[in-house]
Amino acid sequence: MEVSKPRPIISCISFLALYISFVTITPASSTSLQDDFIKCLHKNTNVRFPLDKTFFTPERNSSIFTEVFESTAQNQRLLTKAMPKPGFIFRPIHESHVQASVICSKKLGIHFRVRSGGHDYEGVSYVSRIEKPFVLIDLSKLRQINIDIEDNSAWVQAGATIGELYYRIAEKSKIHGFPAGVYPSLGIGGHITGGAYGSLMRKYGLAADNVLDAKIVDANGKLLDRAAMGEDLFWAIRGGSGGSFGIILSWKIKLVPVPETITVFTVTKTLKQDVSFKILFKWQQVADKLVEELFLRVFFTVVGNKANKTVSMAYIGQFLGEKGTLMEVMEKDFPELGLTQKDCIEMNWIKSIIYSSGFPTSSPPPIEILLQAKSPLGKVYFKAKSDFAKELIPVLGLKGMFKKLLEEDAALVIWTPYGGKMNKISESEIPFPHRNGTNFMIQYYRSWSDSEESNKRIKWIRELYSYMTPYVSSNPRQAYVNYRDLDLGQNKNNSKSNFLEAKRWGAKYFKDNFKRLVRIKTKVDPDNFFRHEQSIPTLPV
Ligand SMILES: Cc1cc2nc3c(=O)[nH]c(=O)nc-3n(C[C@H](O)[C@H](O)[C@H](O)COP(=O)(O)OP(=O)(O)OC[C@H]3O[C@@H](n4cnc5c(N)ncnc54)[C@H](O)[C@@H]3O)c2cc1C
Ligand SMILES: *[C@@H]1O[C@H](CO)[C@@H](O)[C@H](O)[C@H]1NC(C)=O
Ligand SMILES: *[C@@H]1O[C@H](CO)[C@@H](O)[C@H](O)[C@H]1NC(C)=O
Ligand SMILES: *[C@@H]1O[C@H](CO)[C@@H](O)[C@H](O)[C@H]1NC(C)=O
Ligand SMILES: *[C@@H]1O[C@H](CO)[C@@H](O)[C@H](O)[C@H]1NC(C)=O
Repeated sequence: MEVSKPRPIISCISFLALYISFVTITPASSTSLQDDFIKCLHKNTNVRFPLDKTFFTPERNSSIFTEVFESTAQNQRLLTKAMPKPGFIFRPIHESHVQASVICSKKLGIHFRVRSGGHDYEGVSYVSRIEKPFVLIDLSKLRQINIDIEDNSAWVQAGATIGELYYRIAEKSKIHGFPAGVYPSLGIGGHITGGAYGSLMRKYGLAADNVLDAKIVDANGKLLDRAAMGEDLFWAIRGGSGGSFGIILSWKIKLVPVPETITVFTVTKTLKQDVSFKILFKWQQVADKLVEELFLRVFFTVVGNKANKTVSMAYIGQFLGEKGTLMEVMEKDFPELGLTQKDCIEMNWIKSIIYSSGFPTSSPPPIEILLQAKSPLGKVYFKAKSDFAKELIPVLGLKGMFKKLLEEDAALVIWTPYGGKMNKISESEIPFPHRNGTNFMIQYYRSWSDSEESNKRIKWIRELYSYMTPYVSSNPRQAYVNYRDLDLGQNKNNSKSNFLEAKRWGAKYFKDNFKRLVRIKTKVDPDNFFRHEQSIPTLPV
């Protein structure tokens, strides 16, 4: 059969020939593609894989296929009928199955996408817009977590969620934590590959700053740990983005100390209550300079009905300490917010995770919900973008931003303060470059529930982003790779001519580190086996 040829991904001509042969065999023979793959897997692993639990094709059982396909996929925008679907899904239950998948995909010329938690903003972990056919390797059954409290460390498999990780840490200790994201269903596998920030960021940096070791399957199907992969590749995978260098099987992370008592609060002001931006402007001046124990974000949402719309600004804070100390800090550095004792709630670290996760704060669920890998907000269509502010946004700029926000109803903008530990780590320590000099990160996010609205919503968020241009970082205009945005540019195909365009979006995500990422990619994966719409390209020959 044609597809059983090894894949020579060198010239455009062979790519085109292969592409045509693929087109002629889909979709009818995706079942035989799967059969060849299964045969090959058997040859390359000694560990059995019950087919009914590990393989899913639309032909054999379309309802279970759809269920598995959509299970962790977060963005409804990538799940419409028009979006391409994988020829089949393989869900390994043993690490050796992942190695065998790489070996067999390479041998059979099958392109795959790898998914851990499925939160990729552009769905590149489960939908390919540039390769046909493609298959999906879903790591959700590899989710073991081994906490070693004595050693202040843990090994976590890629398919585990950060909610599970947090729960398992808290189960063993009330004074250990880990500085990753604030949303419990995020997959450890993909999340850390892009940096991964959360409420402990100003104190301890990113999750990627707190990685000690990793196990990765490389383009030859070899399983490597830090010593075997070498410091270049170990550098690249801690922030250089997922799906470019290999498949992470597990991370060894460093646990960090957290106090027994943490204080959280939410103070909400509407635009009408802060019409001259006294509070918001002061936030800009102080948020990145406050004590590292305090993480104080602003969530902008549009509230009210059509006739009576305003913007609400929720100042959501987390302080590593008791409320008395927090009150002193706020009275000294940010009295304008008017925080009172009554606003402050003391709790332990794991409860603070639930508080800041998007679950209803009035009646928070029990912490066991973190084990369910559930997304608190449910599935929606969404599009998002990110920016970094390095200077104060003047009142005039703020006015325009609010005007733009008020054009919509369900818009969300989040300002996340930097500073603290983030300033003390050099820009080239890991590929994540947004460090000293960054006041705060901005996320623009728009969700909707009807595919008919997509064009209108996306147009609006692009306009907002365009409006913000003069007020945010420039040359390059920086962006957070974990908030993947294909508007910034994308690989059109697997050819090496993508390099020139990639230099532009690469600089936004990684600044100067992009060059080193490309060099490492060229060394460890010269055939560009691991690739997607925004994977790191190889150097042109
Ligand atoms: C609702 C929501 C909330 C979020 N909150 C935060 C937050 O608080 N902080 C933050 O920093 N980010 C946040 N993010 C962004 C998040 O960090 C990224 O989307 C991240 O890539 C998710 O990882 P994942 O494993 O869930 O995603 P996936 O979609 O599975 O993977 C993302 C990328 O990594 C690749 N990949 C996946 N698994 C592996 C692997 N094992 N080895 C190599 N590559 C792999 C994929 O191919 C893809 O390119 C949020 C996203 C969403 C949707
Ligand atoms: C691949 O994309 C690049 C950049 O967009 C383009 O120049 C090249 O012609 C494309 N190659 C093929 C085979 O489509
Ligand atoms: C499809 O899979 C589901 C769940 O395993 C099973 O209950 C059902 O019988 C299967 N249907 C067919 C037609 O195989
Ligand atoms: C407008 O909305 C605010 C709260 O957002 C509310 O307090 C006020 O009563 C509303 N006014 C009218 C006229 O509906
Ligand atoms: C951050 O940059 C500022 C201004 O460029 C400099 O004064 C300061 O020393 C830097 N801080 C650190 C921790 O490097």
